Amino acid sequence: MQQGAVVFEVNPILDVQTIRDRARRHIQNGAVTPNYGVDVNVVLRLLNDALATEIVSVLSYKRQYFVAKTSASANLVATLVEHATQDLLHVDRLAERIVQLGGTPDFSPVGLPERSHAEYADGTRLAEIVRDALVMERVAVESYREMVRYVGDGDPTTRRLLEDLLAVQEQHARNLLSLVEEVSLVEASRAVRSLT
Ligand SMILES: [Fe+2]
Repeated sequence: MQQGAVVFEVNPILDVQTIRDRARRHIQNGAVTPNYGVDVNVVLRLLNDALATEIVSVLSYKRQYFVAKTSASANLVATLVEHATQDLLHVDRLAERIVQLGGTPDFSPVGLPERSHAEYADGTRLAEIVRDALVMERVAVESYREMVRYVGDGDPTTRRLLEDLLAVQEQHARNLLSLVEEVSLVEASRAVRSLT
């Protein structure tokens, strides 16, 4: 006799009737069912903080792009555009998840710098732009990791979303790190030209 089969019959993993009964209660909570494993209000606050962080990131990248646009570093310009585009997609994905959980995405400019974990970057030199953007991404990486830890198994959909965004931010940080040397060479050659 297969022991596993007996255990399954006596003690089924899923009590489907209980799940059906509970799903009929509090239907106004939508995706947040009784076995939602974390505090939904905390998750909504974290998602809105992440939303603010991504908005500030997009604003910073847009500004940095227009400042760096005519520079000799084509790789930097392309990277700034790519990161702005990807972070804007994150804004949409976070807002979508906030709505699914019954919350309201906070797009208000009032208090945006306080809600954002990353700071708006306003450097003008190429080296500053790369450094500021790298710091911004590293802040986002740390924040997403902490959020993933908090959400754990309590809300697998939100965790997967946060893990996706974390992976992209890690890639952004790596992209920027690879530009540090190139940008300092561009600035050095510009400085030499200004002396001749
Ligand atoms: Fe990013």
